[in-house]
Amino acid sequence: MPRLVTFIAATLVGTAISCLLLSVVAGRRLGEWEIGCGCGHHPDCPCMGMETPQACPTLGSKSSGLCALVALGKDSTNCRSISTTSVRSPTPRMGCHLGIAISRLGQLLVISVLMFPPCAFAWGATGHQVIGALAEKQLTANARVQVQTLLASEAGSTLASISTWADERKNSTTARWHFLNFPRTSCNYDQARDCPDGNCLLGAIDRQLNILKSDATDLQRLQALKYLVHFIGDLHQPLHLGYLDDRGGNQYQIQAYKRGSNLHALWDSGLIKFVSDDTKVWVDRLFTRPLPARVNLIDLVRVAEESCRVVATPGFYPDRKVEAPYVDRWTPVLEQQLVLAGARLTRILNRLWP
Ligand code: ADE
Ligand code: ZN
Ligand code: ZN
Repeated sequence: MPRLVTFIAATLVGTAISCLLLSVVAGRRLGEWEIGCGCGHHPDCPCMGMETPQACPTLGSKSSGLCALVALGKDSTNCRSISTTSVRSPTPRMGCHLGIAISRLGQLLVISVLMFPPCAFAWGATGHQVIGALAEKQLTANARVQVQTLLASEAGSTLASISTWADERKNSTTARWHFLNFPRTSCNYDQARDCPDGNCLLGAIDRQLNILKSDATDLQRLQALKYLVHFIGDLHQPLHLGYLDDRGGNQYQIQAYKRGSNLHALWDSGLIKFVSDDTKVWVDRLFTRPLPARVNLIDLVRVAEESCRVVATPGFYPDRKVEAPYVDRWTPVLEQQLVLAGARLTRILNRLWP
């Protein structure tokens, strides 16, 4: 009798182990996954600015299937995973259900890895939220009422909470509204050269301001407010005013504290997260920071040029390895940019509703 039990137990364990092994094989046949961190580093990345699964013709030999983009946060042009799935075999050869179940589990695991990929800095919303929150604290009484009136249709919303909506709404048309590229040779804005069709960050800000000043419906003006809050933030992320040839640093790969990322992601969120990922911590840290003397709060073309000059400063492009000296040198600059963005957004809103 004990022998029979041992035999049955051994058979069960053996079956389980072979199912497990088969499931690995079956799993591989059922779907192949490729994880890439940062769409931007693919020279022909067809996925820029796209939110939903798209045909993905240029991702190499394994890309006969769909390119499913897993947006990892708010900035759909930045750090996210690219997964390519080969077409699934309709009837897996092994009829081992346990194996298939385990294989599915494995795929679930892969999917969760995709949701939290080995990117050093998936895009965080903190920067935009800090800017919204800083402005919110400094609105004049009338501006506050007008903002609250527009926000009233969405219960509980604030300038901070709406600040990331524009990234969530990004698509292949609106993606261009989030940045403006300067040539490497000059940070002097030339509209005909840098924003010929108005499809750039400065053009987009202008349009949203015009909508807010117009007698458009409250819903249209709320949307314009959402865009404006976000775009004033983007205007202060230096790499949104960077160079086309590396897609504003998206294609400049770096190793930050031994983790792979790119320079754009470092400035979108990595440097912020080194201090804290908590908006409140940042607001408390920056709210009392003084503005530089004789600061320009009005001329947004000059603001764009200033951001470009940050990018053009020697040392802004790190050696590929980013460690404490880079972080220590550039975090104060990033902080200043956040403070200025908050002050300029405040000024714009207070001027809109005097
Ligand atoms: N995001 C995507 N493309 C970009 C570019 N050329 N410059 C800045 N940000 C970008
Ligand atoms: Zn943006
Ligand atoms: Zn960005």
